[in-house]
Amino acid sequence: MYVSQLPFLRDHWYPVAVDGVLGRDLPIRLFGAPFRVTFDGTGEPFVTAPAPTWRTPRPLPVRRRYGLVWTTVGEPVLDDPPTWPEAELPGWRTFVEFFETWSCSAPRIIDNNLDNSHVAYVHRTTFGDPDDAHLARPAVSHTDDPYFRAVLSSEQKGLGVQLGVTGDEAIRFGRTSTTELVAPLTTHVRMRFDGDVPDYAFFGVATPIDDHTSIYVRLSALAGSEQEQPWDRFHAFGTRVKEEDRIVLETTVPDFPIDVTSEVHLRCDSATLAYRRTLASLYAQHESSPPLQEKTWPST
Ligand SMILES: [Fe+2]
Repeated sequence: MYVSQLPFLRDHWYPVAVDGVLGRDLPIRLFGAPFRVTFDGTGEPFVTAPAPTWRTPRPLPVRRRYGLVWTTVGEPVLDDPPTWPEAELPGWRTFVEFFETWSCSAPRIIDNNLDNSHVAYVHRTTFGDPDDAHLARPAVSHTDDPYFRAVLSSEQKGLGVQLGVTGDEAIRFGRTSTTELVAPLTTHVRMRFDGDVPDYAFFGVATPIDDHTSIYVRLSALAGSEQEQPWDRFHAFGTRVKEEDRIVLETTVPDFPIDVTSEVHLRCDSATLAYRRTLASLYAQHESSPPLQEKTWPST
């Protein structure tokens, strides 16, 4: 289904600008409609629906969190954007790692955040290894219904370069990733190394511009000091990983199935299957959702 066919997505918070930019007047599109982000002389951000192209011109609610300006175009189900735990932890440093427009539908981006099966192939020049394409099955458990977390332990190469502890990309590091879906288009990922090297964490959000286009935002949090985990090396490696994802994601179709039979899935797809079930549940609960069409298969 397309973003425009999933009305519940509108009732959540999305980042629409990087905070701290004085005097900017920024036209944006959200869910296919025009809006505007402005910062007054003191740097206070505002988001408005410009008249007369919008039927009910109105200021949108705004929150400033984690270096970003967030808004919602619908009836927000929560008073604030999701909490990013590592931003509150002492000793952690937080960064807006990237804030970019991608030619990809928002659910495809989040699906990729949750997917482990693509790593060995898509990330073969960073932390994936096609010679070790073991497809482990993440352990999925429910958090706040209908959301969930997926936990997976693995031995990953390349990470020593990201972490700034070695220049040898072949050395493997034992890592446990915990990926939580905290909103329909928001993931929280915590990477744990059991004290061998500093942990890090991500907050990934896909802000729908329209059915085909999204703002892909990643916040990164690094444990330890700049000497223990240098930002420049982390960011340089993360940029390579991100570009590997972009090449594939920008070729995906924007029609994202919220059933589990339209696309082929393997046992290792436990998290991405859970994602489809979550979206289907949110769709079914929302009063504005039209009835789902019965799927019809072409006759042979
Ligand atoms: Fe990826």
